[in-house]
Parts: sequence; C-alpha cells; structure tokens
Amino acid sequence: MRLWVKHARQVVRVVSDADPCREYLAGPAQENCTLAILEEENGIGLSIIIDQEGFIADIGYDDVMELKYKNHLVEKIIDASGRSVLPGLVDAHTHPVWAGDRVHEFSMKLAGASYMDIYEAGGGIHFTVNHTRKASEDELYNLLKERLMRMLANGTVLVEGKSGYGLDTENEIKMLRVLERAKRELPIDISSTFCGAHAVPKNQTAEEATQNVLTRQLPEVMRLQELGELHVDSIDVFCEKGVFDIDQSRKILKAGRQAGLRLNFHADELTPICGTEMGAALGAEAMSHLEEISQEGITAMAVKPSVAVILPTTAYLLRLNPPPVRKMINQGVPVALGSDFNPNAYCLSMPLVMNLACVLFGMTLPEVLVAATINAAAALGRQETNGSLEVGKYGDLLILNAPKWEHLIYQMGDIQQIIGQVVKRGRIVDRTV
Ligand code: NIG
Ligand code: FE
Repeated sequence: MRLWVKHARQVVRVVSDADPCREYLAGPAQENCTLAILEEENGIGLSIIIDQEGFIADIGYDDVMELKYKNHLVEKIIDASGRSVLPGLVDAHTHPVWAGDRVHEFSMKLAGASYMDIYEAGGGIHFTVNHTRKASEDELYNLLKERLMRMLANGTVLVEGKSGYGLDTENEIKMLRVLERAKRELPIDISSTFCGAHAVPKNQTAEEATQNVLTRQLPEVMRLQELGELHVDSIDVFCEKGVFDIDQSRKILKAGRQAGLRLNFHADELTPICGTEMGAALGAEAMSHLEEISQEGITAMAVKPSVAVILPTTAYLLRLNPPPVRKMINQGVPVALGSDFNPNAYCLSMPLVMNLACVLFGMTLPEVLVAATINAAAALGRQETNGSLEVGKYGDLLILNAPKWEHLIYQMGDIQQIIGQVVKRGRIVDRTV
C-alpha cells in the first residue's frame, strides 16, 4: 500500500456506490445531495487506503481497516485526527497558457468599460494573443507551471486547459504542446481543449477565421494527435455576438466532433443568441458561462444531459447577469464549476469560486461541492477516475486542517492554511514551484 490516511474525523465521499447515479448529479440528486459523508463514531475515526498504483483500495472505520490491513506493508501513514478529508477539486474551465497580463484593463473595467468594448478596441484577447505569439514554448511553460502549482496548492487536482491565444496553426499548436509538457512533468492532471476559435484575429473576418480553423488548424492538431504528439480531449469556440456566430460555431464544433473530440464551448455568455440550443442539438458534453441562456436552452441541456459549467469569477468581474443556476438545477441540468482562469479573470482558486457561487448565485454548500468534484469531472469525461472518494478511483484527496469540510468555502482568501495536504495518487504533493 502506498498510503494509509488514519483517524480522520470526517470523510466526504461526495457519491458512493449506494447512490443510484454516480457519474454526475443532476436535478434533485444535486440539490439534495448529502455527499455520502462518513463521520467519526464513538471515538473511532476513518481510514482511506491507497494502493501501490495510486488508486483508492478501501475506505472505512479505523477498527475494521486495522483488522483487514494490519499485515500489509504501508509506505506512508498520515494521522488525520480531527480533520476532514474530501476529493481533490476539479476545475472544469481555464485558459492557463498565455503571456502578458492585463492588469491595466482591470481599472478600465472598474471605470465602466465592458468586456466587448475592450475587445473591439484591440485589447482583451487580442492583447494576450500578441504577447503569447511572441513568447517561446519555454517561457509559456514556465508561466503555466507556476499557475498550475498554485492551482494545486488551492486544491485542484484535475484542470481543463484551453489553447486559444495563438489563433493560427503554429501558435495554437505551441500552446497545446506546452500543455502536453505540463501533463508529463507536473503532479496535476490536465484535460486539454483546442480553442483556435477563441477570437477573430485582427486581420480576418469571422468567416475567414472559421475557414482557417477548419482547413488549417484543426487538421494539423488532429495529425499530431494521430502521431501521439498531442492528446487533445475537447474542442471549444467562443460562440458570441461579434465573435463566432451560431453557424460558424456549429461548423467548427461539428468538424471537431467528426475528428473525435468532445464538445465543450463558450455559450450564451454576453448576449442571448441560443448557443445552448445549437450545442445541445450537436450533443455537446458541456457548455460554459450561460449567463444569457434561454428557457429553451435549459430544456435542451437537460435532455442529454449536457453539463453546465458555471464561471462565477467572470460574472462577478464583468458584472454580468447571474446565470439561472437554480432553474438549471430544478430542471435537471448537471451544474459544474470552473475558475475560468485567464488574463481577464485572474483566479486560481476553486474554493473562492465555490464561495462566489454560493453567495452570488444562491447555490448551497453541497451543490457547489458536487459542482467542483463529480460534475466537473463529468464535464471533462473523467468521472471514472475523479470527482469522488470511491474504491477504484484515483487516490487524489485534500486533507483539511479543519473538522468539517465546509471550512474550505467558509474561510475565504487564505485557503492554503486550511488545506493541510494535497494528495495525488497516494503521494503528498510538494506544492511549491
Ligand atoms: O471565458 N469569453 C471568452 N473567453 C474567456 C476570456 C478570455 C480572455 O478575456 O482572455 C472567458 O471569460
Ligand atoms: Fe473561458
């Protein structure tokens, strides 16, 4: 055995094999989720045992585990007396590879400039594209590494990461290669997303940019995928008025699907253009933002269902309408969370995202934990390995310096004091860069 966590006061499994559906929780199952919590009883704490390959081998009360495993060799024991243990968090939407911060835009936004004002004036994504194109793979990797290690320190063990600041074949592939290197070298799991349609380059029309993605970028990404040089999971488009319209987005997503990618894209963020209806018709696995989703969009997402990836940092910073999260949950759409880390929304901390989702969008504490674990894993198609503490899943967990898991959300802004240990595949990760 690689690791034995003993004497825990509380183990928050999120889902367990007693739950009827464990791949994601939607509707009443998300709303009424009791998180399959095990609590210390009569002074007997809880144990989690992680096997030699890094998978969870067993979870149960200390006395039972002592009997079962006392003769096994164990590499490491952690005494979790008085503490709470929960699954490592999953961040379902980030843009982590870029150079050139946009701190100067923060005061413009505070003074009233909208996201699209800045974008149309050549700032926003365009500013980041200029800097990212100039940066070398090594420079981008070093920036990415620091960000991912900070995410890990904040409890994220699996993160979705997009390209999208290259906007041409060479630079999009450069970004995807940087993500591949991080997969090989860093103790955090990454699901990569090709987002060549993140913005319309300044010298092109949206139609030309669409053709560029379809005829140049995507084929090259898929060629490298076949060679085993890239491992891209999903395709994304910024489907928005003034960026890629519904038809252009549909073409790109369809081509991605034909190439074997999952569909996971930006829909109905700033203007209600029925992006979600289009995505649901294509069977998109996940859609993000959704501040301006229509009732028809909610109904359409509930059918497959498609996971709604809610991004509170962006809505907060840009003062957008809150997405109708309560309606989505009531109507059976599984809701997940992402940090949307990018140069606009500079947030690496899922616990802060969860706090914002509670306060700004009226989600309950169990709902946000589901959204940042099993449902976020489902948005990425990783629910078999991530998102809950269950036998056979990855031994990826957080051991809190607190007796109840809610402290992770309740204590704001200084979360690294609360997260005692981050464990990946049964090993305590060194969270320093
Ligand atoms: O999800 N909306 C488009 N993409 C990002 C922002 C990217 C940027 O501004 O650099 C988002 O918020
Ligand atoms: Fe985004």
